[in-house]
Amino acid sequence: MKNEHGHILVVDDHKTNRLKLSLGLKQQGHTVALAENGQQALDMLRAESFDVVLLDIIMPELDGYQVLEQMKSDSKLRDIPVIMVSAVEEIESVVRCIEMGAEDYLPKSFDPVLLKARLGACLEKKKLRDLERAYLQQEVMLRQSEKLATLGKLSAGMAHELNNPAAAAQRGAGQLQAAVAQLQQAYLTMSEVSLSHAQLDSLRAFDQQAQERAEQPFDQDTLARSDREHELETWLVDRGIENGWEFAPVLVGLGTDAGELGSVAEDFTDSQFPAVITWLSCTYTIYSLLEEIGHGAGRIAEIVKALKTYSYMDQAPIQSVNVHEGLDNTLVMLRSKLREGITVRREYAEDLPKIQAYGSELNQVWTNIIDNAVDAMNGQGELVLRTRQEDGWVVVEIEDNGPGIPDEAQANIFDPFFTTKSPGEGTGLGLNISHNIIVQKHGGEIGVRSAPGKTCFEIRLPINSETAENA
Ligand SMILES: Nc1ncnc2c1ncn2[C@@H]1O[C@H](COP(=O)(O)OP(=O)(O)OP(=O)(O)O)[C@@H](O)[C@H]1O
Ligand SMILES: [Mg+2]
Repeated sequence: MKNEHGHILVVDDHKTNRLKLSLGLKQQGHTVALAENGQQALDMLRAESFDVVLLDIIMPELDGYQVLEQMKSDSKLRDIPVIMVSAVEEIESVVRCIEMGAEDYLPKSFDPVLLKARLGACLEKKKLRDLERAYLQQEVMLRQSEKLATLGKLSAGMAHELNNPAAAAQRGAGQLQAAVAQLQQAYLTMSEVSLSHAQLDSLRAFDQQAQERAEQPFDQDTLARSDREHELETWLVDRGIENGWEFAPVLVGLGTDAGELGSVAEDFTDSQFPAVITWLSCTYTIYSLLEEIGHGAGRIAEIVKALKTYSYMDQAPIQSVNVHEGLDNTLVMLRSKLREGITVRREYAEDLPKIQAYGSELNQVWTNIIDNAVDAMNGQGELVLRTRQEDGWVVVEIEDNGPGIPDEAQANIFDPFFTTKSPGEGTGLGLNISHNIIVQKHGGEIGVRSAPGKTCFEIRLPINSETAENA
């Protein structure tokens, strides 16, 4: 066995035992720290990192069992191997310690050969365990950064897309509260000026008109509209309606004007008319706000639905994938990034067959490549998405007319963490993730041809593969 050296903690309440062990360990090349009681041992373990603990069982206050127990319940100390040091007559206690998770034991009668053999085995195990843990941690971090990398690209755009309708709905709900309170007031006032059946019928007709108009507001020329508002406001104020300035824009939106309201006014008395105007204005405002809120919520639902199709949520991981749908959904998800200055040309093959694939992973690939293309074109240029069938393959090309990838970089672009972007703009994982998804998961191929003014990523996916990982 290879001779491992370690940093060893010796815990014993007897000074002679401590020194004897310490000497023996030092002679074998280890470094040693000493603790004279259980509590001191735990404090040292938490402050410093040790490879092995040699632990006496019988000690005053905190004994060996308790130290062992506390170590095993502490995730930071759990994996440090513990060798119990015991007198021969304590054999039953040793069994108990091993059941509690101690690695091994040594008799108190100090034997350098035995010490070397047991310690060597322990250190070797500890080293393997540390390696395993480091590997797992790295693996977890890599998976996490992969997920975050794609998520980051989408979430900025998504936040932007969701923000407008959400803000509109929220604003609408706030205004609705005030409008409903005003409507209640109008009702109370109207009940005081008791209306006839005929008058109520004309209000019902207005209610209907308000509902319809709110659903389909008409497009009015801004200048003409403001003229009409001004005219109506003057007319209302002349009729003694104080809030004329507040009601005029609403009533113009409803499509009425001074002429129409003049004939309505004839049906009501002077004391009834202001209440009727308030009621009419509030009613239309409320219908319009409801419409606005509904519209905002509907837009949010639409975006969430696109996100669901994009991510193939609620679906089996491998399915029959329509590549064109995936590309189109990706364009929807990246809409805010593509909006200005980028034209997208789609040259899709007719009758492109569906392929057996991991749909959401493929969408990650399209996202990463399109994201890079848009970055490269710096917001100005043309993006071409091309598909074709070739023998047993579906071929997808994503092309941009940006500055291209320098020859010396082309060999590295698929390496993890290779990036030419400044920190915060790129992690260098996009193409590495894409490569893994296409090559490892699908048994496909991914490559690039690039020159200034034309960069084309070509992805080839087998149509009828058992996807590679399952093959
Ligand atoms: N269409 C392209 N035109 C020019 N250079 C590109 C293009 N696509 C990729 N590159 C280069 O390849 C590098 C690696 O791309 P990759 O997507 O792996 O990482 P990244 O975009 O830098 O960061 P991220 O992890 O955010 O995607 C980029 O930094 C860029 O230099
Ligand atoms: Mg990228």
